[in-house]
Amino acid sequence: MANPSLLILPGDGIGPEVMAEVRKIIDWFGAKRGLVFDVSEDLVGGAAYDVHGVPLSDETMAKAQEADAVLLGAVGGPKYDKLDFSVKPERGLLRLRKEMDLFSNLRPAQCFDALADFSSLKKDIIAGLDIMIVRELTSGVYFGEPRGIFTEGNERVGINTQRYTESEIARVARSAFELARRRGNKVCSMEKANVMESGILWREVVQEVHDKEYPDVELSHMYADNGAMQLVRWPKQFDVIVTDNLFGDVLSDCAAMLTGSLGMLPSASLGAPMANGRPKALYEPVHGSAPDIAGQGKANPIACVLSFAMALRYSFDQGNDADRLEKAVEKVLADGVRTADLMQNAGETPVSTSQMGDAIIAALDASL
Ligand code: NAI
Ligand code: MG
Repeated sequence: MANPSLLILPGDGIGPEVMAEVRKIIDWFGAKRGLVFDVSEDLVGGAAYDVHGVPLSDETMAKAQEADAVLLGAVGGPKYDKLDFSVKPERGLLRLRKEMDLFSNLRPAQCFDALADFSSLKKDIIAGLDIMIVRELTSGVYFGEPRGIFTEGNERVGINTQRYTESEIARVARSAFELARRRGNKVCSMEKANVMESGILWREVVQEVHDKEYPDVELSHMYADNGAMQLVRWPKQFDVIVTDNLFGDVLSDCAAMLTGSLGMLPSASLGAPMANGRPKALYEPVHGSAPDIAGQGKANPIACVLSFAMALRYSFDQGNDADRLEKAVEKVLADGVRTADLMQNAGETPVSTSQMGDAIIAALDASL
């Protein structure tokens, strides 16, 4: 059987720097664990604009549609700020998400014990936290019609429309239940069914999908405003949270920041299953291209490394090796290895991007 394929799009700024460390780790899994990927690399964002005059070429788009998973670094930078909106680096990323129809956005909030002091919450509330927010990404109020700014009488009115079809809710609910089965087997669905009809439908459809297809998973429902309170009060009560595009945008940023640095946060965006049963998938760190530190070897590669761990788990069914990689990251942090963004005390010496990658490889070696 052919090896699974992985399309790598390093992008701009620190994207190529953090991706270089992930390449070392991919090679390690090939050499030491027999997990060989068919890796190809291509351009996205400003890097693609420089060569093709567009932030994502049709050829690259076609490769992304074929790949078993896409791993992206980051796009954008001051050099491209004045470009026309239609060719801005971010449009490359948006095109990928749209044409791959990636409706399920996975944002973990995971706290490594060694970094528990980084949180704005008390250590015992946050230590050991491991939750996953599933945000619907392709519908809802960011896309619903009618929208716009209109004039009514003698004043302006701004309009957006929250709109969800049954099938849009059902598919993201399935995605959350599937994830829960691989984790703590618990889903909490959040909406505002008390004040929004789309929320009433959301609650009904999630419950129906549960009862018909996933009765083994524990399901609860919560109003999203209460959900926000519960997230900062006692986040460990949750396993998987599933919610709409707008609430998910806010709740996932809130949950992610419970755990500390932007340089630590991975993400995945999943679509419908392909012919081989794997979901269409794009994995990327939450952070951007960090022009302020680009080219200096200062970037923390962990967000990108953990994005690859998510690919191992959710695209390639290698949960044990995903655990192995996450444990290696945990060990390196417990040993006090820190890039500059993770420094708390003056006088500590940070490691470089590649030293962090090497430390993770050493921890992987020690795991064999
Ligand atoms: P950013 O995430 O690039 O940087 C924000 C701050 O966090 C900076 O001080 C940066 O140095 C730091 N930081 C980010 N990632 C880090 C890492 N791995 N290690 C250490 N420090 C890290 O967000 P910003 O500054 O708002 O945007 C910069 C550029 O990136 C813009 O062109 C923006 O459009 C683009 N961007 C791209 C994203 C993507 O590719 N998904 C997401 C967000 C922004
Ligand atoms: Mg946001």
